[in-house]
Amino acid sequence: MSFSSTSKLSTFLLFFIFLGSISIVSADFNNEFDITWGDGRGKILNGELLTLSLDKSSGSGFESRNEYLFGKIDMQLKLVPGNSAGTVTAYYLSSKGSNWDEIDFEFLGNLSGDPYILHTNVFSQGKGNREQQFYLWFDPTADFHTYSILWNPQRIIFSVDGTPIREFKNSESIGVPFPKNQPMRIHSSLWNADDWATRGGLIKTDWSQAPFTASYRNFRADACVVSSGKSSCGGSASSGGNQAWLSEELDNTKQERLEWVQKNYMIYNYCSDSKRFPQGFPPECKIA
Ligand SMILES: *[C@@H]1O[C@H](CO)[C@@H](O)[C@H](O)[C@H]1NC(C)=O
Repeated sequence: MSFSSTSKLSTFLLFFIFLGSISIVSADFNNEFDITWGDGRGKILNGELLTLSLDKSSGSGFESRNEYLFGKIDMQLKLVPGNSAGTVTAYYLSSKGSNWDEIDFEFLGNLSGDPYILHTNVFSQGKGNREQQFYLWFDPTADFHTYSILWNPQRIIFSVDGTPIREFKNSESIGVPFPKNQPMRIHSSLWNADDWATRGGLIKTDWSQAPFTASYRNFRADACVVSSGKSSCGGSASSGGNQAWLSEELDNTKQERLEWVQKNYMIYNYCSDSKRFPQGFPPECKIA
């Protein structure tokens, strides 16, 4: 094959790979998200920056226009600075209905200088109770950091600045439902949860510090978008697609990073809370 026909062939193949999923480099927030509540407290600036704020009368939130069934989704967040005790910034994927699926990041604020807690959970078919919580190895209010969800048919990986912090594997073979049939939207909200968030509710929100503001930028999604029941990745998203992320797994280096985070920064793991599960741990805990 001559050089030019090889390069034509690869251009052709690339075109198909590209067609398969919606790939966005730092998308325009105006095209991707709607501010859904908060009466003006959520704002999109120039399409590049989104801010949510919270004061005594209300928080605010946004959601994605698209619904996704699998994706690799990155967002940069800068959390409420200073005394953020009592505030919660939730950033998550969720489907609808009573048997919903959900993949959660929640950032629980704290007094100035005290650490945020990054709370994670996975719901499948309406059932969650799979919390893992972490401290971060940096101050999440000083700058933007990237929080990512890789969701493919085999696994869900939560990452922070490219470092995996949690993996939830598909354990359907041992009877654990896995989110893979219900399209989800991205949601985020900033709200007051001073009844539980900071030191279990001991520290209340200091409203003299309001409004509290969290910021978002550089949204990027390599994802299968579902519209009118069809996936942009092809008929059966769970089997199709040329996208590497659809079968991505942790390589050795990433596996070691995950273990480093879990050893040094994880402060709660449902899979080791024996008081909570006196009859034995959930089945997925045995393979984690
Ligand atoms: C807040 O700071 C206290 C004291 O360092 C710590 O125990 C707690 O885990 C921190 N985070 C939250 C959200 O309570």
